[in-house]
Amino acid sequence: MRLIKISILLLALALIFSVVPNSAQRRQPDNEIRINALLAQMTLAEKLGQLQQLDGESNGNFRPEHRELVRKGLLGSTLNVRGTQRTNELQRIAMDESRLKIPLLFGFDVIHGYRTIFPIPLAEASSWDPALAERSTSIAAKETYASGVRWTFAPMLDIARDPRWGRITEGAGEDPYLGSAFARARVRGFQGPDYSAPGKILACAKHWVAYGAAEGGRDYNTTDMSEQTLREIYFPPFKAAIDAGAGTVMSAFNDLNGVPTSANPFTLTKVLRGEWKFDGFVVSDYTSVKELINHGIAANEKEAAQAALNAGVDMEMVSRLFNEQGPGLLTEGKVSQATIDEAVRRILRIKFRLGLFEHPYSAVAPESENLLTGPNRVAAREIAGRSMVLLKNHNDVLPLSRNLGSVAVIGPLADDRRTPLGWWAGDGRAEDTITPLAGIKAKVSPKTRVGYAKGCDTQGDSTAGFADAVALARASDVTVVFVGETYETVGEAAAKSSLDLPGRQMDLVKAVQASGKPTIVVLINGRPLTIGWIADNSPAILEAWMGGTEAGNAIADVLFGDVNPGGKLPVTFPRVVGQVPIYYNHMNTGRPPEASNRYTSKYLDAPWTPQFPFGFGLSYTQFKISNLQLSAQHIRRNGKLTVTVDVENVGRRAGDEVVQLYIRDVVASMTRPVKALKGFQRVTLRPGEKRRVEFTLGPESLGFYNRDMKFVVEPGEFKVMLGSSSEDLIESKFVVE
Ligand code: NOJ
Repeated sequence: MRLIKISILLLALALIFSVVPNSAQRRQPDNEIRINALLAQMTLAEKLGQLQQLDGESNGNFRPEHRELVRKGLLGSTLNVRGTQRTNELQRIAMDESRLKIPLLFGFDVIHGYRTIFPIPLAEASSWDPALAERSTSIAAKETYASGVRWTFAPMLDIARDPRWGRITEGAGEDPYLGSAFARARVRGFQGPDYSAPGKILACAKHWVAYGAAEGGRDYNTTDMSEQTLREIYFPPFKAAIDAGAGTVMSAFNDLNGVPTSANPFTLTKVLRGEWKFDGFVVSDYTSVKELINHGIAANEKEAAQAALNAGVDMEMVSRLFNEQGPGLLTEGKVSQATIDEAVRRILRIKFRLGLFEHPYSAVAPESENLLTGPNRVAAREIAGRSMVLLKNHNDVLPLSRNLGSVAVIGPLADDRRTPLGWWAGDGRAEDTITPLAGIKAKVSPKTRVGYAKGCDTQGDSTAGFADAVALARASDVTVVFVGETYETVGEAAAKSSLDLPGRQMDLVKAVQASGKPTIVVLINGRPLTIGWIADNSPAILEAWMGGTEAGNAIADVLFGDVNPGGKLPVTFPRVVGQVPIYYNHMNTGRPPEASNRYTSKYLDAPWTPQFPFGFGLSYTQFKISNLQLSAQHIRRNGKLTVTVDVENVGRRAGDEVVQLYIRDVVASMTRPVKALKGFQRVTLRPGEKRRVEFTLGPESLGFYNRDMKFVVEPGEFKVMLGSSSEDLIESKFVVE
């Protein structure tokens, strides 16, 4: 009977898959035949044309020169050209006037939203809820598609352990496991199961690779690390994205162990194509091919093109060396015809998979039908609310009552419309943003008086606005201060040597707090900041990040308790910048820090512990995590283990806890991290509700790259730790035999 049931189920599944094949996959053998036919007809110039991507103008238009290049078949792709009128106009030239009618591929940086802007990726990662990222990227994909663009330069998958690096804002933080979960979710959201489907766009895993490890946090800077660290920390989110089907990869700006990543055969060919079987294409970052000359591994443009092409870059963004130097390199035998053909093949393969040959044009519809729709705003608000992290809540000063007599809204970021959109803001517009001030006004009862004082700017020395701010605080029941950093001070080329609140903002918080009224600090920022005085002295701190178009409403939802914050930090917050790099999954050293012993690994002038650890975040309710159980005390090397734990809401409000699982391989042939995240689950519980949460650990969680660069699980004792942050854990152990 059971056998019959299983057969029926299998038959049904087979039927479903035969009726609804993944259309991109179905066309694959077909595509290769069509690619061969095209390659046979293409001139060298037309082939090199497919390898060229040029920047349109910043206002979304294309440069007049591009018309001519497209007509001659000398341009394969553009970036920044958007809006269906423009994309269709340029596409029409490709389809009607070029000899081979190969469609153009339009790309754009849709990092956390196209027109509806979602929280910065670092914030979304704070939700520890990858489904949210899948939702926001799928909405972003729809808006992008509706605007004529079929390719985003996202997700950004760089692990970042250094908050000085401005681009930490664009990624999922410091951890490879969490980063991989978000990588998969974002690729799925953008591409769906078949990116040729309407409303889906092609993803680009970037920046390959280790760009986030830039020395000193200085953007574009050199990186140098062991292959173990590369494979265990920096590669995993990329592997996850490739396994989830990401169609393209972007090579990075940085040097890696002496070979710049836009000319690195090890990363671009051996790992990506050889080990991971990636068959899409690699686009260089903006002029990174030409920059090989500055790196000093190419004497001139010809050598730069040669190095990049031979290493495995297929499409060149903005610089034009493949085009200009390709013919000479071929004649001189420095680049083979096969290498050029392979690059063209990979690009055409993706254009076919994207369905561009069948549907080169975009439907023209009124913006209002697709962009910033009511439902998209609702989603942005929910996602922003779930991305916030409550860092402190002394005596339950939060949530606030919406029936307060008066609220003072203070600070340079309380009514800033542009900053919530973050550095990459797609086509987002400041005028669409709900500021915190607007969100609070909309939330409180009509009788509540809401006053506003800016206090000071985010930068500069003026304290001229302090007096008004303090007077307002004195005259109000509660004060909420919005401080942090503006959008121009995070993102690309926004490295900082100090993580303190810039300008006089810290003094503003102190002055306002001295008024004696309960003061809540809301941080609006794109990277961890050093906020020692606030952490020690302010009663409540909410990390709201740069929350997108609906930031203000979402902040008000959290401040007034309609949303119970449940986010956790995806990155460690240092106390002082000198502690950087500071990350939870470090090695132990031979002399782990001990307060009473000078000759241990620590600082003379600062604690070794962070201000807020990785995985930390509070709630308006309390949780208890207990009853940790393992399915076995001993497992085989290739065996699996089930870990279960109870999580109970022991407070008085419904809320979310993120249960986190870490392991430690106690003794191994290589040193191993003191803890490494290997599982997490965000659960919502009513007051008094208790749930059993289950995790599975297998070889992929327990192994590491040994001295021979082989991924192995070594026998011996493992610790398993569960809890609500990387520092608040209960533990047990098991043995691998
Ligand atoms: C340079 C950035 O590094 C990259 O992330 C971006 O996609 C390109 N510019 C295109 O804007």
